[in-house]
Amino acid sequence: MGEHILLLGAPGAGKGTQSKRLAAEFDLEHVTTGDALRANKDMDLSHMDTEFDTPRAYMDAGELVPDAVVNEIVKTALEAADGYVLDGYPRNLDQAEYLSEITDLDAAIFLDVSEEELVDRLTGRRVCDDCGANYHVEFAPPEEAGVCDECGGELIQRDDDTEETVRERLRVYRENTEPVVEHYRARGELVEVDGEGTPDEVFAEIADVVDE
Ligand code: AP5
Repeated sequence: MGEHILLLGAPGAGKGTQSKRLAAEFDLEHVTTGDALRANKDMDLSHMDTEFDTPRAYMDAGELVPDAVVNEIVKTALEAADGYVLDGYPRNLDQAEYLSEITDLDAAIFLDVSEEELVDRLTGRRVCDDCGANYHVEFAPPEEAGVCDECGGELIQRDDDTEETVRERLRVYRENTEPVVEHYRARGELVEVDGEGTPDEVFAEIADVVDE
């Protein structure tokens, strides 16, 4: 059976970058609530008695999308996967509780990155509008500015990567998701990895943890 890996970290810690590589290297499914929600930004939530009527409204404000929406996404995705690397979930203690009811984890890996570095990474991130490949204007630039190396598509900035929304996402992270990191740490289940090396260095450390 494939491994069940959870990748935790603040916005911009490199979860997306590293989980794509892990999924390819270890032949795992990449399950990410962020990408799933971006693909369904205009889903109608008006029947749910929630603050906003679409995921887009929550995401553009840097707030969490309601648990009922993301729990369902994760349950469906995990049921379809043999092994997986889960990225972007759980983001609060209720989601962590729900996750423990639907699956068992082999490893919970936390990517540790300082707040200043997070802001630089997120505001400089560019993503391909066609294939989703990830760049950074300074740390991982494409060969030609604004053009995807992989597919020639246009590179755009994510709507929530403006400095103001980034600051709000980090606040929401500290309030809601840091307790989740503490939860796994208190249970002795957390493996901490220095997320500030190069992407290759960080990947080597994570791959060692998964190999064990
Ligand atoms: P989501 O898409 O999950 O965003 P996030 O957690 O904020 O994470 P990011 O994608 O911004 O960062 P990352 O850690 O993947 O970093 P990356 O590898 O790209 O969620 C978005 C929104 O959806 C949320 O705000 C919320 O509204 C909603 N949502 C999602 N899940 C939810 C849930 N469970 N419950 C409720 N709501 C939910 O790297 C960032 C940049 O840094 C890139 O440019 C990259 O090139 C660069 N970089 C990466 N590694 C390095 C390195 N080692 N050195 C230098 N640069 C690097």
